[in-house]
Amino acid sequence: MLTDAERLRIEETFALYESRSASAVDGLLIIQQSRGWVSDEALADLAQFLAVSTHSLESLASFYSMIFRHPVGRHVIMVCESVCCWIAGSAELTAYLNDRLSVGLGETTADGRFTLLPVVCLGACDRAPAMMVDGRLHGPVVAADIDSILSQYP
Ligand code: FES
Repeated sequence: MLTDAERLRIEETFALYESRSASAVDGLLIIQQSRGWVSDEALADLAQFLAVSTHSLESLASFYSMIFRHPVGRHVIMVCESVCCWIAGSAELTAYLNDRLSVGLGETTADGRFTLLPVVCLGACDRAPAMMVDGRLHGPVVAADIDSILSQYP
């Protein structure tokens, strides 16, 4: 069930578009902001609220890597794996993060502090290799920078 606050915030986006269904991405992000991720139940509730099919909303949600369909840690690290960052050394960053956090891609640290996710181009190829933490871009990053970056996210 969507909360009253979620419904209100989603309704506020209706004025931005010609149809209610066009608020789907906003709705997913609003749910994620309030709950941390978008569960199957929340997605179905949003689909009903927007009068769209659950299947179409699921397709949309799975298209965007910034929509989390599973629980995540307090902070989400996204390491770009696209070509510019790969050439610039993103594999070394990922390997360092795997070792430092003891998690693989798609996993959350045992203390729930970080989730590490791969992502396609962050649109910051001029800052390759790039990573994003909680929506904040870091780049170019070398392995020696990572401990300092992680310390900014307690
Ligand atoms: Fe990594 Fe574009 S390839 S930001």
